[in-house]
Amino acid sequence: MSKIFAHRGFSGKYPENTMLAFSKAVEIGVDGIELDVHLTKDNVLVIIHDEDIRRTCNGQGLVRDMTYEELSAFDASAGFRGVYGVNKIPTLREYFELVKDTDVITNIELKTGIFEYPTIEQKTIDMIREFHLEEKIILSSFNHYTILRCAQIAPEIKRGFLCESWLINYGKYTAENNVQCCHPLHLSLSQAVVDEMHTAGCEINTWTVNEYEDIERLSAMGVDALIGNFPDRMIEKLR
Ligand code: G3P
Ligand code: CA
Repeated sequence: MSKIFAHRGFSGKYPENTMLAFSKAVEIGVDGIELDVHLTKDNVLVIIHDEDIRRTCNGQGLVRDMTYEELSAFDASAGFRGVYGVNKIPTLREYFELVKDTDVITNIELKTGIFEYPTIEQKTIDMIREFHLEEKIILSSFNHYTILRCAQIAPEIKRGFLCESWLINYGKYTAENNVQCCHPLHLSLSQAVVDEMHTAGCEINTWTVNEYEDIERLSAMGVDALIGNFPDRMIEKLR
């Protein structure tokens, strides 16, 4: 049975990457939560998907050009503005306070695809260690150099290579780089691709799985975790 991960929290029903979306995911009993991390101008790890706040907040500008205090002035309720009050951009620290005493696995996606934020790997790992969450974390990134840097700093923390295209021998490539997980786009999976990854010894955590038929199909294919915006649908289908 595939594990159930809430993508950007319970983002199908609550504003993505907010404490509200995370606490609602914990409440319904997900196995894991996926979230996106950037670094502010004053080196605070914050949870937001884009480099620029304009899509999710009532303002604009790059996260890296603003201090955390400046970012805190905005409402990050994208898609749900006015429905659940004001929801600030959370810090990774706030999130860890929420999950530290639960069994929830956290998939931290380091958003280093456009800006590399040179210290983001070290700062994230320092905080994971401070909260003693090493065994409940999967670090992932589309920037595979980021993941190799994580392996250097913290070989004990599980990590995954994100990819959104049909990579040949994705499992072999992942395993040869001493990375434990493949994080493919679900549309790039066939049974043969799943089998190649498992034969290489990799765990498969796929995204973004929202439709009932995809939940059933991918679980039947043996995918290890489904990451989706509607974890309630996955609970309904799989448990
Ligand atoms: O980590 C899986 C998935 O979240 C990657 O894509 O754009 O939703 O961050 P994106
Ligand atoms: Ca993500």
